[in-house]
Amino acid sequence: MTEDLIKQAKAILRRNDRGSYTVPTHGLYPFQWNWDSCLSALGFSHFDEERAWTEIDTLFANQWPDGMVPHIVFHEEDDGYFPGPDVWRTGRPVPTSGITQPAVAGFAVRRLVDRARDRELAATRARALLPRIHAWHEWFYRCRDPQGTGLVAIIHPWESGRDNSVDWDDVFDRVPTDGVEPFNRRDTQHANPSHRPTQAQYERYIWLVQRFRSLGWDNTKLHDASPFQVVDPGFNAILIRSSSDLADLAEQLDVPEIAAQSRGHAARGVAAMETLWSDGIGQYLCQDRTTGTLIKSPSIAGLLAGFAPIPAPRAKAIAERLTTLGGQVDHLVPSHDPGAREFDSLRYWRGPVWLIVNYMIADGLMRSGEAAIAQRIINDSLRLIERSGFAEYYDPHTAEPCGGDQFTWTAAIVIELLSQELTPA
Ligand code: GLC
Repeated sequence: MTEDLIKQAKAILRRNDRGSYTVPTHGLYPFQWNWDSCLSALGFSHFDEERAWTEIDTLFANQWPDGMVPHIVFHEEDDGYFPGPDVWRTGRPVPTSGITQPAVAGFAVRRLVDRARDRELAATRARALLPRIHAWHEWFYRCRDPQGTGLVAIIHPWESGRDNSVDWDDVFDRVPTDGVEPFNRRDTQHANPSHRPTQAQYERYIWLVQRFRSLGWDNTKLHDASPFQVVDPGFNAILIRSSSDLADLAEQLDVPEIAAQSRGHAARGVAAMETLWSDGIGQYLCQDRTTGTLIKSPSIAGLLAGFAPIPAPRAKAIAERLTTLGGQVDHLVPSHDPGAREFDSLRYWRGPVWLIVNYMIADGLMRSGEAAIAQRIINDSLRLIERSGFAEYYDPHTAEPCGGDQFTWTAAIVIELLSQELTPA
């Protein structure tokens, strides 16, 4: 069984491989996505280390001069996706989008190094990537935390990677739709519209893109100019974990300045995460930075926070919350609390299970010594695959496969989980 699943997963990675990058899935997402690539590299690393490094190198070859690593790189023309380069108009040599995505590269690169069979290859490639990843992290703290709070804000829901989460609903009310140029969505031609974001959400996504474009994609202006500024605990946890992993890597490679600065980012981030904790809900919450208030939306963001080196009592509380959720669904981890009014078991990030998030939560909790719940998450993830194949996401109650199929990062995580490479406690 295991061998067969790994074989199928490898075939998906190969099928979606475009030579120097992979597409998340054929049709729906025909370009390179930032965090998809970093997590997919982990899958490749089990059978083709060179190819794993190339995936991340290609992404960083498209880093912006200011340090940002864009969320999409449009390597080839393809009109099967909206919004394409003609909407973003970022002026990059290889067209890219103008926003970013969760900074998982530091974590991924450290993992590639830790498990490398080809040590020399790993040292060379990691040494070249180290200052680039560091420049991205510095960009985050400079441009997305201008007040120096220790936590960064996202300025567009797509940056979080959780496009239509309930977390954004209230803040989205503040995003206007006037002046949005007419557009034709393509996603609903590839996937069931009832599994996708709504038209009203798309209009706001595009309004924000047009707003940032009108400011020339100048990252010294965008944060303050955005009506959408949200501090997402999952997003920050990924950045904190990557900063801490980058610090370890920099020490190994004997680059003390990067090690010290990265260690500082991680420590300040962990301390500041306390401001997002909710005793009432027993997890971290998003914060609306424009009003300073916590958004009382019990989403997976506050559980993904367990990926960072958070204090043990917080990890324990997250484990307890996951145990409660586990009593409500057949498959952990639903992307939103099934008891909440807004929960929708089929609609993208408003309820369905995503394997990449499961992997990160399980990894973090394993490190925090919460092995039982981490193991349940892994078992549930593998049951989903056995029942429903390598989908983009799944209904947590029925295991119905949703969105795109033959999905690259789902396949990569299956290889990762079956190869039992989780960080030991
Ligand atoms: C969707 C997801 C995002 C992912 C992208 C490509 O936009 O919400 O997290 O990176 O698809 O798979």
